[in-house]
Amino acid sequence: MTDSAYELVELANGSWSVRSRETRETFHPVVGPEAEARSLYVEQLRLPERMAAATDGFVLWDVGLGSAANVLTVLRAGRAVASPLRVISFDHTLGPLRFGLKHSARLPYFEGYEPPVQQLLDQGKANFMNHRQPVQWEVMGGDFPARMAEFDRVLEPPAAILFDAYSPARNAAMWTLPLFRNLFRRLDLSIPCNLATYSRSTMLRVTLLLAGFWVGAGEATGGKEETTIAATDPGLIPKLLGAEWLTRVKRSTSAEPLLEATYQQSPLSDANRQRLELHPQFQRERTGIRD
Ligand SMILES: C[S@@+](CC[C@H](N)C(=O)[O-])C[C@H]1O[C@@H](n2cnc3c(N)ncnc32)[C@H](O)[C@@H]1O
Repeated sequence: MTDSAYELVELANGSWSVRSRETRETFHPVVGPEAEARSLYVEQLRLPERMAAATDGFVLWDVGLGSAANVLTVLRAGRAVASPLRVISFDHTLGPLRFGLKHSARLPYFEGYEPPVQQLLDQGKANFMNHRQPVQWEVMGGDFPARMAEFDRVLEPPAAILFDAYSPARNAAMWTLPLFRNLFRRLDLSIPCNLATYSRSTMLRVTLLLAGFWVGAGEATGGKEETTIAATDPGLIPKLLGAEWLTRVKRSTSAEPLLEATYQQSPLSDANRQRLELHPQFQRERTGIRD
């Protein structure tokens, strides 16, 4: 089933996922949209309990809205939560969302959410009740790295980030150190924030650490034996990367962060090795401090 830029592909377990024909990447390639969104984002970021505890409201950034499987799975998991939720979705195209809604018969995660999705497509925002939870959902178009670099633009800082771009080899601009540094500067360090993403690459983990995050190994999901969680507060990360990981980084042939939107792999530079060693995450281990 195809439109010009997107198609639906059936996965081995019988579920369906959207695929971009241009990048030749399937959005949720192994276990399917809901299962991946649940284990990678909803559970790892502990969203239902964190949203429920945020009685003044919770801000979620959804980077790479795509066809909204991640956001809609978060919404479904949050229906018993009464605290307000504000979702800011980023994408430079609404094409996959339009495509997904059109083919929602094969994408059951849309069920019940068709009206707010249609409103988001028509007006760029949707305010609605997600059962008990008041939701304000807004889409920010344009190039995400450029948005992060626009310091005059005020964006509400998030308490959680779903980071779901195409892979670094196909979409290098979304994985650079300057981008993550700009993103980190937009966080409010008085609001604990965690971020999950499907990649477990050394290059990405080094990038997140050098941008200022604490970083840990995330659970297996969607056929990947590990994923990645980053946070502004180490208490939000169950398995922080430690000295053993740092030793492996120094031997890796693909650890140096991308500085621009061209994918290339190289060992960690001496300057970045020194910066990493000075990161509180590794200093703390050296001094034996544990939470
Ligand atoms: C893997 S898909 C996201 C899937 C989505 N999270 C879902 O649940 O269906 C990646 C998305 O990132 C968006 N994207 C890629 N590069 C971007 C950029 N430079 N700025 C904004 N969005 C971008 C793509 O348009 C695409 O929709």
